[in-house]
Amino acid sequence: MYTPETEKEQFEKIRTLLYPNADAACKELAQEIKTLIEIRRAEGKKAVLGLATGSTPTRLYRELIRLHKEEGLSFKDVITFNLDEYYGLAPDHPESYHRFMREQLFDHIDIPAENTNVPSGTVRRKDVFSWCQDYENKIDESGGLDLQILGIGRTGHIGFNEPGSGKESLTRLVNLDSLTRLDAARDFLGMENVPRHAITMGVGSIMKARKVVLMAWGEGKAGVIAKAVEETPVESLPASFLQGHPDVRFIVDQAAGSELTRIKFPWLVGAMEWDPRSIRKAINWLSTKSTKPILKLLDEDYNEQGLGDLLTSSGPAYTLNITAFNDVQHTLTGWPGGKPNADDTHRPERAEPHPKRVLILAPEPQDAVLGMGGTIHRLVDQGHEVALAYLTSGNLAVPDSDAIKATELILDMANATEDADNVVVNKARDVRKELLKKGDQSTDSKNVRHIKAHIRRGEARAACQECDLTSDHILFLDLPFYENGRYRQFNLTDADTDAVTQLLQEIKPHQVYITGNQADPSSVQALGFETVRRSLVNCSEEDWLQGCFVWLYRSHGREWDIHEIDMAVPLSPDELARKTKGIYQHQTQRNQAPMSRHSGGEAWQQAEAADHHLANRYDSLGMAEYEAIEGFRRLEINNQL
Ligand code: GLP
Repeated sequence: MYTPETEKEQFEKIRTLLYPNADAACKELAQEIKTLIEIRRAEGKKAVLGLATGSTPTRLYRELIRLHKEEGLSFKDVITFNLDEYYGLAPDHPESYHRFMREQLFDHIDIPAENTNVPSGTVRRKDVFSWCQDYENKIDESGGLDLQILGIGRTGHIGFNEPGSGKESLTRLVNLDSLTRLDAARDFLGMENVPRHAITMGVGSIMKARKVVLMAWGEGKAGVIAKAVEETPVESLPASFLQGHPDVRFIVDQAAGSELTRIKFPWLVGAMEWDPRSIRKAINWLSTKSTKPILKLLDEDYNEQGLGDLLTSSGPAYTLNITAFNDVQHTLTGWPGGKPNADDTHRPERAEPHPKRVLILAPEPQDAVLGMGGTIHRLVDQGHEVALAYLTSGNLAVPDSDAIKATELILDMANATEDADNVVVNKARDVRKELLKKGDQSTDSKNVRHIKAHIRRGEARAACQECDLTSDHILFLDLPFYENGRYRQFNLTDADTDAVTQLLQEIKPHQVYITGNQADPSSVQALGFETVRRSLVNCSEEDWLQGCFVWLYRSHGREWDIHEIDMAVPLSPDELARKTKGIYQHQTQRNQAPMSRHSGGEAWQQAEAADHHLANRYDSLGMAEYEAIEGFRRLEINNQL
């Protein structure tokens, strides 16, 4: 049983290491694997690795490939066993884990094919049971796993051991949870295409490994990580069984570690060095916990909930309450671009200059309206020079059926006007033919991706109209990392940063809006954010940057906590309805809402629920009661880029 080393980790039952980012963590783990392979080799044995799929391990695999290519690390005497495979997928299916492993690792290193093992997705149903027993035996016969690496699903699954999986379960056929299938919907272009079953190594098979390392990146994993690490092991959260493993550790980035008590409620696990933001955080928490508005909190409330030292250092409650109340109150503004001719001492944005040049950046087309549709409308309405730049076309997320529909529209118009032989019509005809015979085994050609990009442009323009933003203020950057990539196989290059840097230099904005800073690092949102971050760094010598405020908005994933918000823009019921209509224009994205932002349902329902929820949070702290609120956090250019 793990004993925490420091007071602040006192609730943790698994050793958990927080890294500044996923790359730093993967570099270290890759070195550990290298050492393991070398030790085994020196003993005349083969290292046996348990491997995982998903976005999480891709950076580790990239680093192992680098070690192979640049530092001569050989995998000739390594044996691998993969955790799982979708049942029903042939090894060449684009989403099969066989193909994933070949593309992400095996094809780039010198491991002999016969040393790699991935559960079969095609074994006949009647043979599944004995096949699984053989897989289990093969692991044992190879000497057992030296190291098992893991990701974690949002249901708390490891491999495909969904909630309900027993502690001693072995390799077997399982049903997939609906949340897991929802998370995979993006890859399969719709939940209906996601297989319902999988073959997975069991929790018991994983527990037999001599060492286990679980990786998690991005805010989407924060909740499940905290539960697995801090709560009592239960079948409803299979990763929590790892608490019983003698040599296990979790390696996480800052975002995935953000729900651990030591990060989320640090005052509960040791002495604090209070600063204004942590005071605001603690008092908002206290207000929620004691279900009282801030101004009604008493000294007793502080003492009873473990905030006695804050009371001693900065109290009494009356003083703390007023400061915290004002802090939160000052984040609220109906003037996201600053209120001209007003005293701006306590406003989130400066009054001058007015109008401002505002650059809004959307990693995927729907992000901007989801996260800040109401604020865009306000900025336009209040006379600012707003430009909205779509970083990627989003064409990977367009279902084939929508593209077929678009080609039919073109062909129909051509027939009606007897103009059946021009470049556009011929292209539409080719694309239609290609899509109809595509099947689920192939990826989209350039032509198909072009037409899908046009569909998304049309949707984006329609959404902007709901925000009163006209087409001449919209830019489509079609960044190369996305156009030349596939999910999990995006690589940022200078061409991406150059395009955004050039745009920044042209506009010299007073405000930049961007999202994705806490997202899974392989997601389009995170890569979009990273491109913008690097571009801003490129401009660090330029004068305009010192007068530029960078605002982060939320489009996917968890909501802001109130203490994280520096600007809160209330929306009236009418404004919210307009925003909803704007989101609705991204029609190809309906039924594809990947990461529930607040609750289930389509993207517009989730966004509405989240904006209502934020307004309710402000209300319950004792602020005015609004219909909905969009929240923003300011990124300090000088020390947070
Ligand atoms: C799938 C895999 C798991 C993986 C999980 C998380 O369910 N079977 O092994 O850990 O997805 O995926 P990702 O790393 O893409 O977040």
